[in-house]
Amino acid sequence: MKLEPVDPKGEDEFSRLTYEMDQKRKQEMALDTVKKVIGIHSGKGGVGKTFLTVNLAYALAEKGHDVAILDADVDCPNVPKFLGITSSLFVDKEKKFVPVNHNGVKIVSMGLTKEDEAEPILIRGPAKHRVAIDFLANTAWGAVDYLLVDLPPGTSDVPMSLLEFGNVDGILYITTPQKDALMDTRKSIRLGKTFAIPMLGIVENMSGSVFGKDKALELSKEFGIPYLGSIPLSEKIVAANDRGDIIFSDVAFESVVRPILNAITTQ
Ligand SMILES: Nc1ncnc2c1ncn2[C@@H]1O[C@H](COP(=O)(O)OP(=O)(O)OP(=O)(O)O)[C@@H](O)[C@H]1O
Ligand SMILES: [Mg+2]
Repeated sequence: MKLEPVDPKGEDEFSRLTYEMDQKRKQEMALDTVKKVIGIHSGKGGVGKTFLTVNLAYALAEKGHDVAILDADVDCPNVPKFLGITSSLFVDKEKKFVPVNHNGVKIVSMGLTKEDEAEPILIRGPAKHRVAIDFLANTAWGAVDYLLVDLPPGTSDVPMSLLEFGNVDGILYITTPQKDALMDTRKSIRLGKTFAIPMLGIVENMSGSVFGKDKALELSKEFGIPYLGSIPLSEKIVAANDRGDIIFSDVAFESVVRPILNAITTQ
């Protein structure tokens, strides 16, 4: 299947109806109180999407912005684990999800609905997509400057739905330097292009002598997307993530964080 937005000027009735339905869906999912929705994505799993999302959220909050995170990884939600959150999500009288406020950042995640964090979440594709859309559109987000969406890997189901209808204002890509990760990231960049979403930049993660370096730079040139720098493969990062700590507040990461924050806040 070719993923092209339907031409609104298309002559045939089917194209026109599909276009109108898509626009209606987008309107239904527009968030009145959220200024910018930023997706963090890569087609490849395990490259650091969640690590980057949670760390950027607190870096933005530290600069005085109102920040929220939507953990769009419905069946393997990692945001609560990365932050050591044990509180639960609940629903208000208007049947809207109320985000958990963790140190000033609002969080919505499927992981906040389970008492047993190791319980497998058994959910099929269409339901997964429904949950992600509900989390985005049916949450009482309140005033938010930046809603960061931690997207799951891949280019179908949830990432496809949220990028197509979620009114995403910009995407940050993250990849490790290995060939397979670069190839899957390439696919996710092309998915973003399909829906004409502004590309804020690419970050190389786990850069260094083990996996290689400067490969995301090549990818950024290939697509004409800003290269935002690299984050080393580091034991300190592993330990911070395992403890639920935010490592971007460490001054050693200042030069890594600055260009990424600039890409988000100056778009
Ligand atoms: N620069 C780094 N150095 C060392 N470990 C890292 C680094 N970045 C991330 N990690 C670790 O790598 C693992 C994968 O990171 P993370 O969960 O953020 O990836 P992901 O892309 O969100 O994965 P998934 O596709 O499963 O959602 C985690 O255990 C994380 O702590
Ligand atoms: Mg993740």
